[in-house]
Amino acid sequence: MKFSFAAIPAFIAAASAVTHTVLVGENQGLTYNPSSVTAAEGDVIAFQFVAKNHSVTQSTFAAPCTKSGVDSGFFPVSANATVVPQWSFTLNNASAPLWFYCAQTGHCGQGMVFAVNPTAAKSFDAFQAAANATVSNSTTSSNGTSSSAPSPSASASGTPSGAMARFSLSSASAVTLMGLAVGLLL
Ligand SMILES: *[C@@H]1O[C@H](CO)[C@@H](O)[C@H](O)[C@H]1NC(C)=O
Ligand SMILES: *[C@@H]1O[C@H](CO)[C@@H](O)[C@H](O)[C@H]1NC(C)=O
Ligand SMILES: *[C@@H]1O[C@H](CO)[C@@H](O)[C@H](O)[C@H]1NC(C)=O
Ligand SMILES: *[C@@H]1O[C@H](CO)[C@@H](O)[C@H](O)[C@H]1NC(C)=O
Ligand SMILES: *[C@@H]1O[C@H](CO)[C@@H](O)[C@H](O)[C@H]1NC(C)=O
Ligand SMILES: *[C@@H]1O[C@H](CO)[C@@H](O)[C@H](O)[C@H]1NC(C)=O
Repeated sequence: MKFSFAAIPAFIAAASAVTHTVLVGENQGLTYNPSSVTAAEGDVIAFQFVAKNHSVTQSTFAAPCTKSGVDSGFFPVSANATVVPQWSFTLNNASAPLWFYCAQTGHCGQGMVFAVNPTAAKSFDAFQAAANATVSNSTTSSNGTSSSAPSPSASASGTPSGAMARFSLSSASAVTLMGLAVGLLL
């Protein structure tokens, strides 16, 4: 059997790939846990939607709450769900930081953002601060609508970024939500 040199690094990369699991909406919070990951090429970022009705929507560092790229869509999860949907992607460029937010009304402005491979210059904290700053605090409105959004509907075309590939939506094979007393509910 022929064994090409090219096959060897591919095999090694696949063998060392890591899955980073991110819980979305844990404890009813407006959070991704962890809020950022450091991932290598070939790693999988898997989002488990554990509560409420959130999304994982790609944006940019400059405009944290404006869709630019891929979007998981919304995953409503009932309060007593024992299985939860998972959405994941495989990172194919570890040199490019990726930025995401929850597109549910008001959530981004309350800091519900996520980063892959943030840098010292473009840190998660700076990204989240920019997200928080999209919400005007000069009104008492609590509907979370950003009245000072920089470029409303500018480039919300949803073209996938070249920095990732192989999206998989595994709602069919929903993951079991850990830590629930399943026996109690069945
Ligand atoms: C989830 O949120 C989206 C966006 O706000 C909304 O359109 C949808 O109706 C919600 N789904 C449920 C089941 O609440
Ligand atoms: C889940 O919650 C809904 C709404 O509160 C309720 O109608 C339903 O009976 C619950 N299901 C279980 C299995 O507890
Ligand atoms: C990976 O991302 C970096 C930074 O954006 C970019 O310069 C480089 O061209 C990308 N590599 C590939 C293979 O797309
Ligand atoms: C953004 O707002 C959230 C919610 O108030 C807060 O927890 C977080 O610390 C803020 N982040 C920054 C960088 O200010
Ligand atoms: C509210 O907005 C003002 C003016 O932009 C800013 O200086 C202040 O820090 C903001 N306060 C909070 C709690 O975000
Ligand atoms: C949200 O609040 C702003 C400012 O008060 C208002 O202009 C806007 O119509 C509100 N949007 C919704 C969906 O209620």
